[in-house]
Amino acid sequence: MPTTSIHGTPDYAELDALGLDPSEVVYFSSNINPYGPPPSVVEAVQAEISRSFLARYPDSRSQRLRERIGAYHGLPPGAVLVGNGTADLIWLLAHAYGNNRNAAILSPTFSEYADGVIMAGGHPVYFPLPGWQRIYDPSASRRRVGAAGGFGNRFAPAGTTVEQTRKALEAAAPWLVFICNPNNPTGEYLTPGELRYLWEGAPDALWIVDEAYAEFTEDPWSAAQWVLSATNGRPARGPGWIVLRSMTKDFSLGGLRLGYLLAAPSTIERLQDVQPPWSVNGVAQLAGLVALDELTWREETTARLREETRALQAGLRACGYAPLPTSVSYFLLPVGNAQAMRDRLVAERMFVRDCTSFGLPDHIRIASRPPEENARLLEVMAEFARLPGGGF
Ligand SMILES: Cc1ncc(COP(=O)(O)O)c(C=O)c1O
Repeated sequence: MPTTSIHGTPDYAELDALGLDPSEVVYFSSNINPYGPPPSVVEAVQAEISRSFLARYPDSRSQRLRERIGAYHGLPPGAVLVGNGTADLIWLLAHAYGNNRNAAILSPTFSEYADGVIMAGGHPVYFPLPGWQRIYDPSASRRRVGAAGGFGNRFAPAGTTVEQTRKALEAAAPWLVFICNPNNPTGEYLTPGELRYLWEGAPDALWIVDEAYAEFTEDPWSAAQWVLSATNGRPARGPGWIVLRSMTKDFSLGGLRLGYLLAAPSTIERLQDVQPPWSVNGVAQLAGLVALDELTWREETTARLREETRALQAGLRACGYAPLPTSVSYFLLPVGNAQAMRDRLVAERMFVRDCTSFGLPDHIRIASRPPEENARLLEVMAEFARLPGGGF
C-alpha cells in the first residue's frame, strides 16, 4: 500500500491494512529515544496507578511539574506552561497569536507550525533555513492542510547562508517566526550566536523556538535564557521569545505525551486563558516529575544513540549512500524516490520517514535505533544498493 506519511509515528490504520501489529515493526521513522522510558518512570507509574488515582482529575495547572521544569531551566514556575505534548502547545500558540497574521516558517521543517497557523486563520510564509533553498514545484500537491511539502514547496540542500535567511526575514517583517532547533528533519543545530543573528532580522516578531530535540545533541543549549529578557533591554515591544520542549522524545513518553513551553509570565497567563483545562493527564504529570530525576539516564542514552548514529551513517556510506550530517539521532538520506524506498522498507517491516510532506520527495529520514536493529536496516539497505538503480 503506497503511502505518504505526515508523521513518523505509527499509522494504526496503515498497520491494520498491512495486517501488522505495531510490535512487529521497527520504527526508524519516529525520532524518539529507543532506550526509554527510564525504568524508574515505568515503576513509579505502575506503583501509583490505582482506582482512586485514575478516578481523580489531575491538577489542571500541572503546578508541581511547572516548579520542577522552572527550576531545571532557572526560571520561575510562572514562566512555564505544560501541554499534552508539544504539538498541543504549537496549536495553542498558533491560535493565540496566528489569526490573520503572517507566520514565517523556517523550512524544511515540522509540519505542525504551518498546520496550526492555517487552522488559526493565519498565513504561513516559508523561508529556507541556512543551507537550504526553496524551489517552486507546481507538482508538489497540497497534502492535508499546510504540510510544507504542499503549496508548490520543495526544498533542496544549497549553499545559502544565515545572512541570506536574515535578510529575507528583514524584508518580510513577519509577526511570528517558527524555528525548530535542532531542526526536524534535517538535524541541523544553530548556535546561540547564529539564532541571535537571525533574530536581529525580525526583532519585533514573536520567535517560537521548538527545542524538542535539543537534549539529543552533544552540546544542548536553550533560548530559554532569553525568555525573561525578551526585548534585550529595549522598551517592551513584542512578546519576544517562546521556547518549546518535548519530554515525549528524550524520555520516550509517546504513549503519554508531555511537552512544555517557556515564556515571559505575562505570555503564559494569556496562553493559560486559552488552554483547555486538564489537558495534561495525571499519569503524564507523574511521569514527567520522575523523569526529571533521570537526567543522567538521558545523558547516557542519548550519548549512546549519537555513537550509534555515527556508526549507522558510516555503514550507509560504505554501501554507497550519502547521509547528510546531523547533530541529533536522526538524519536525512537522499534516495531518489522517498516514497518508493519507504514502501520497500515497509515490506521488510521497517518504517522510515518518507520526507515528501516536508518538501523533500527524494529524501528519507532515519532515526537511529539500538545496534541490532540498525544492523538489520543496514543489511536491507545494502541489498537495495546492490540492485540495478539501487533506489538512490
Ligand atoms: C519538532 C517537533 N516538535 C514537536 C513535536 C511533537 O512533540 P510531542 O509528541 O511532544 O507533541 C514533534 C514530533 O514529531 C517534532 O518533531
